[in-house]
Amino acid sequence: MAKRKILITSALPYANGPTHLGHMLEYIQTDIWARFQKSQGHETYYVCADDAHGTPIMLNAQKQGISPEEMVAKVSVERQRDFADFNIEFDNYHSTHSDENKALSELIYNRLNDGGYIKKRTISQLFDPEKQIFLPDRFVTGTCPSCDAENQNGDSCDACGATYLPTELKSPRSAMSGATPVLRDSEHYFFDLPAFEGMLKGWLHSGSIQDEMANKLDEWFADGLQQWDISRDAPYFGFEIPGAPGKYFYVWLDAPIGYMASFKNLCDKNGIDFDAFWREDSDAELYHFIGKDIIYFHSLFWPAMLEGAGFRKPTNVFAHGFVTVNGAKMSKSKGTFIKARTYLDHLDPEYLRYYFAAKLSGGITDLDLNLEDFAQRVNSDLVGKVVNIASRCAGFITKKFDGKLSDTNAEPALLAEFAAAKDSIAEHYENREFGRAVRSIMALADKANQYIDAQAPWVLAKNEDTAQQAHEVCSVGLNLFRILMTYLRPILPGMAANVSDFLNDELAWDGVDKPLLGQPINKFKALMQRVEMDKVNTMVDESKESLAPQSQALEQVADNGELKKDPLADEIEFDDFAKVDLRVALIANAEHVEGADKLLKLTLDLGGQQRQVFSGIKSAYSPEQLIGKLTVMVANLKPRKMRFGLSEGMVLAAGPGKDEIYLLEPHDGAKPGMRVM
Ligand code: MSP
Ligand code: ZN
Repeated sequence: MAKRKILITSALPYANGPTHLGHMLEYIQTDIWARFQKSQGHETYYVCADDAHGTPIMLNAQKQGISPEEMVAKVSVERQRDFADFNIEFDNYHSTHSDENKALSELIYNRLNDGGYIKKRTISQLFDPEKQIFLPDRFVTGTCPSCDAENQNGDSCDACGATYLPTELKSPRSAMSGATPVLRDSEHYFFDLPAFEGMLKGWLHSGSIQDEMANKLDEWFADGLQQWDISRDAPYFGFEIPGAPGKYFYVWLDAPIGYMASFKNLCDKNGIDFDAFWREDSDAELYHFIGKDIIYFHSLFWPAMLEGAGFRKPTNVFAHGFVTVNGAKMSKSKGTFIKARTYLDHLDPEYLRYYFAAKLSGGITDLDLNLEDFAQRVNSDLVGKVVNIASRCAGFITKKFDGKLSDTNAEPALLAEFAAAKDSIAEHYENREFGRAVRSIMALADKANQYIDAQAPWVLAKNEDTAQQAHEVCSVGLNLFRILMTYLRPILPGMAANVSDFLNDELAWDGVDKPLLGQPINKFKALMQRVEMDKVNTMVDESKESLAPQSQALEQVADNGELKKDPLADEIEFDDFAKVDLRVALIANAEHVEGADKLLKLTLDLGGQQRQVFSGIKSAYSPEQLIGKLTVMVANLKPRKMRFGLSEGMVLAAGPGKDEIYLLEPHDGAKPGMRVM
């Protein structure tokens, strides 16, 4: 097999807040793939970095009273410790706020500019007169121009799903200061993405792109590609654009260049040929692992930038879905928004590596971390099947046979069968079908256990005449175990390292055809503890942001600034209120809406009549959480035609949006259809 040159990346995490188990899916998936490629003998590098730039990071640092550099450095130390403790093995971990990244960003920008791909245009944007800063869309809130819902984001309405420009919001406010923003002109720099449409279509169909991704991209092409705004005005934490004082690269321009920069940093340290991986005609392979939320940046902007600047394009971009916990979005109040560190304080990182691997496919579907299933799966597969093989065989070898495996291979056919599985398992790994690889490996583990059960070495060992046979059976058992651990090594590097010490063997992929004969082995130590549900529950409790909801509410009665953020409306007459017919409604059904990022389709039952309502609560609720619950709806709202169908009313909820949306629920006893006064 020819040796390949492979450069692999994971998305660069924002240096702004802790690592959580959602992030870990990506780094674990990539790490398994990189370790697998290394096990095949390919020249493989896995690099990553902190994504250090942008307005949120700048503001967060301000809030803490430190410089962005200090904050980024602090987060980076914690982040890298989290990754290391999950056995994520980067060949390099760097930062986008680095000399390499500055030089490469300027180089790429200058080449794009020379190629005529940078356009300048004056645009009018909302500006915070108090803070003296242009406001990114998500820092503007106001009243939806299409349904009048208050407190909506600058780009879209959670209540009706409309999308708009922040300048279209009614009574807009700056989320930073509460001030009313004013319009101000500024010259912006744009990257001419449409110029690359033909190339992008060709590139996307040159490889084997994931089906779901192909569908998304087709939609984007159908909508037409737009020029991309790549500049931001000072104050901004980032790199100043060459020849444009006071203008900075938008964070998403220099972020993917951070992949190159981290690799450059590695090349300079280790004497690797950077150009061999990045020049236009490079024969090296380049893969980006990302979440499904950032496909646009990686499959359109990034290849177009590379092409325009004379570099090679990615061989492929692999997107994965999002992690849910117990069937729902990770939630701070339920304790399922679990930080990497909280997990590590209670549980073995290899449990999660195994569970994610067992459920991962090459597609973009979301992955549910069901905590009961997690414990059960790890216990039955890893402890009950894999470790069990070794623990049943090791003792006899140490105690009775001088700590040495038998010189003869008593079951050549069985061992050959295990070794022969290596190509199909390798293919599953290569295709990122880790779940399939795990299933094949566990089927072999079952076989190994059946063999040991049938031979019953513990019986054979009791009798002088059959002791030799016991030696052979246990030696076969440990050889089978060795093959399984070789296959599992990309997923369970920590356990594999202990098995290496135990068997005095490297667990090399190529070694599975040659059983260990006459091999001295070491004393067997417990390889993995069972997952205890107690510990899982403690982890969840510790992840809950606060104690009982009641005491939380009492604590929050003190001035929490809610009214300042959103002042009370003008006084109204009773008749004005009475016009609104509020009713208790049963959520008879809730479902996702194809193509809608924010909406759930609810079927509300008023005790006889049913209404269909599209509600912008998807960011906080999954359908399963809602079905069967009571809530309150505006029942006499004029139906609105939306892109997805007719919406006949609205449900009542509080909160600023995103994962902070709180649906109203009546106390026990209320019945569907009752009027709310
Ligand atoms: N900084 C950008 C990436 C720049 S790449 C040049 C970013 N950072 S992030 O910290 O928000 O996310 C890092 C990665 O974690 C992304 O690929 C994102 O999709 C992934 N995930 C974040 N939350 C996730 C889940 N809940 N589940 C699975 N992946 C998740 O985006
Ligand atoms: Zn609206």
